[in-house]
Amino acid sequence: MKFFIDTADVPAIRDLHDLGMVDGVTTNPSLIMKSGRDIIEVTREICSFVEGPVSAEVVALEADAMIKEGRHLAEIASNIAVKLPLTWDGLKACKVLSGEGKMVNVTLCFSPNQALLAAKAGATFISPFIGRLDDIHLDGMELIHDIRAIYDNYDFKTEILAASIRSVNHVTQCALAGSDVITAPPEVIRKLAAHPLTDAGLAQFMKDWEKTGQKII
Ligand code: E4P
Repeated sequence: MKFFIDTADVPAIRDLHDLGMVDGVTTNPSLIMKSGRDIIEVTREICSFVEGPVSAEVVALEADAMIKEGRHLAEIASNIAVKLPLTWDGLKACKVLSGEGKMVNVTLCFSPNQALLAAKAGATFISPFIGRLDDIHLDGMELIHDIRAIYDNYDFKTEILAASIRSVNHVTQCALAGSDVITAPPEVIRKLAAHPLTDAGLAQFMKDWEKTGQKII
């Protein structure tokens, strides 16, 4: 399963990139706002060291304008995935931009039928938002399972990019469900390494080592 980092915070991406944990990056208008930076400038900086797909989202709502913005964003670097909302206009833009050979990430997916449409429109990635479904007492993981089954039934090549990941359990559940990619905030990725028994075991080893009076170097 690939790890994309869901942020426009360049130092945080660099930190995880140095560890080999960054297979790609996703941004959205809210994350760009949070970064306080210009979308073109920050996306270009991310693409200068991230080799995998970097999603940059259009803000137009009508297909022709989305296509125009998508083409502009795609000029930033060859690894840009144009992010389009799952609306009828977004699907139209997806069909055109994917037909031009551009990577497209169709975002704000909340149902299996939406995912089916995105695959038929040629999306490279579909982004089902798990956390936002959980927020309204629905089961976000059920959506990942359903999309996996549908895509496998018909051998769609669109990759499932599980988004709106809020917890380490979401990551485990996505891996078990066969999600191709997860995109998560840097803090969730870091939490994957944490376990209280690891900390307790290490503390005991350090205590016992001190009693030996030895040094390795
Ligand atoms: C994905 O592409 C989105 O940027 C993101 O995962 C949304 O997450 P949120 O629901 O926590 O804002």
